[in-house]
Amino acid sequence: MNVVLKDLRAFWVLDSRANPALEVWAFVEKNGKVFNGSFIVPSGASTGEFEALELRDSGKEFHGKGLNKAIQSVYYIRDHFFNTIVDDLFLFDKKLLDLDGTDNKSKLGANAILGVSMSVAKALANSFDMPFFKFLTLLTGSKDYYLPVPFMNIINGGVHADNKLDFQEFMICPVFFDSFSDALKAGSEIYNSLKKILKKEGYSISVGDEGGFAPNFSTPFQACEYIIKAIDDSGYNDRVLLALDVAASSMFDNSKNLYKYQDSFISSDDLMKIYDDLLLKYPIISIEDPFAEEDWDSWIKFTKKYGNKINIVGDDLFVTNVQRLSKGIKLQASNSILIKLNQIGTLTETINAINLAKENGFSSIISHRSGETEDNTISHIATNVGYSIKTGAPARSERNSKYNELRRIEEFYNIGFVGERVLGKFYEDRVVSRNI
Ligand code: PGA
Ligand code: ZN
Repeated sequence: MNVVLKDLRAFWVLDSRANPALEVWAFVEKNGKVFNGSFIVPSGASTGEFEALELRDSGKEFHGKGLNKAIQSVYYIRDHFFNTIVDDLFLFDKKLLDLDGTDNKSKLGANAILGVSMSVAKALANSFDMPFFKFLTLLTGSKDYYLPVPFMNIINGGVHADNKLDFQEFMICPVFFDSFSDALKAGSEIYNSLKKILKKEGYSISVGDEGGFAPNFSTPFQACEYIIKAIDDSGYNDRVLLALDVAASSMFDNSKNLYKYQDSFISSDDLMKIYDDLLLKYPIISIEDPFAEEDWDSWIKFTKKYGNKINIVGDDLFVTNVQRLSKGIKLQASNSILIKLNQIGTLTETINAINLAKENGFSSIISHRSGETEDNTISHIATNVGYSIKTGAPARSERNSKYNELRRIEEFYNIGFVGERVLGKFYEDRVVSRNI
C-alpha cells in the first residue's frame, strides 16, 4: 500500500542553550488515513569541520541563529514532494539530496533536510503501527535488539564548560549490570556521589552543556580520579568503566600544528603519552577524537597501539560520513564511529554509515548533540543498531528524555540490556585492568 506525503509543517522551538531548534512535522496518507511524525533537530558546539551545513539566518534575531531560511526550505521541499509516494525512504532521501544538489547540503540546509527525512520516517513508522526502534529494522536489517550501555558524561570541559579542562567529556559506562534500569540507577547514584564529593571539597557543582559537573579542575587525571572516587563511594567499584571524549580538534592549533594543553602547546606524541598514562591508571574503555580531524597519522599510530584494547571513536574525524569512514577503515585509523544524525543530514545516510561500520568490525555509538531538546528518537536508533548511546549526564531533562525513553522501551517491550557484550573483543584487556 502506497504512502503519500500530504503536508509538512516547520517552526522553531528552543533548545537547551536557549537557541532555536527546528521542529518538523510530516503528515502522510495511507489507505485514506493520515499519520504524522515529528522530529526536533539538535545542534552541536564542537562541530567537525566536515559536517553538513546547519542553515541559520545570520541576521540580528537570535544572535544570528534564526531559522527562517531553514523553515522556508522545509516548505520548498513540501511543495516539491506534495502528493508523491514516500514509502521507500532510501529513495526519498536520495531525492532530497538531489533537490539540494550540493555536497554539504548548503542550499536547503542539513537541519531542514534532516527534519524532513526524520519526520517522514517517523510518520511511516506510525502508518505501520510500529514503535520506531522496530520499524528501523526495515532499513537496517538488524534483528537483535538490546538496550544500549549509556555513556554518561558527568564531568564537562572543553568548549562545553567554562573551566580549565582541555578534554571535553569524562564519561561513566555502567557495563556490568543485568538490566538497563540497574545501569541507569548506578549512573544516577554515581552522579550524586560525585556532587557530594565536589561540594565537600569546595568545588563548584554548577554544570556544563551536557549536564555534567564543570569544577575548576585542570587535568584529565584529576577528573578521572574524582570519578573513580564517586564510583567507589557508590559501591560500584568493579562494575563501571570510563570513557573520554577529548574533542581534540578543539585543542588543535593549525598554524603551530600543535595541541593546546594546560596553557602550553604540545605535540601529538606528547598527547599520546598523556593517553598512555591515563590508560595505565584508569579503566578507560573508549577514547573519542584523541586527535584532530585531519591528523590522520596520529590516529593511525594510536590505533596500531591501542586498537585491540579500547574503542577509538571518530566523531569530528568521520562526521557520520561514509566517505570519511571508508578512508578511516582503509587506513585503519580507528575502530569505532560516533553517529550523529545532523552531522550528515538524512536518516538513510546515517544508516549507511552504521552498516558500513558494522561490516568492517567498527562499533557505532549513537549520540546526541550538546544543544539538545526533549526529542528522544536517538534512543530508538540505539536500541535498534547501537550497543551504546552517548547522551550526557543522567541529569537535565533534554538528556534524561533519552534515558527515560529507553526506560519506557524496557518496561513496555521487555528488551534486555547489552551489558558486557558492549566490550566485545576488548573484554579481557579492560576487565583485567580493573581487577574484576
Ligand atoms: P557537540 O559535542 O554536540 O558540541 O559537537 C558532542 C561531541 O563532541 O561528541
Ligand atoms: Zn565528540
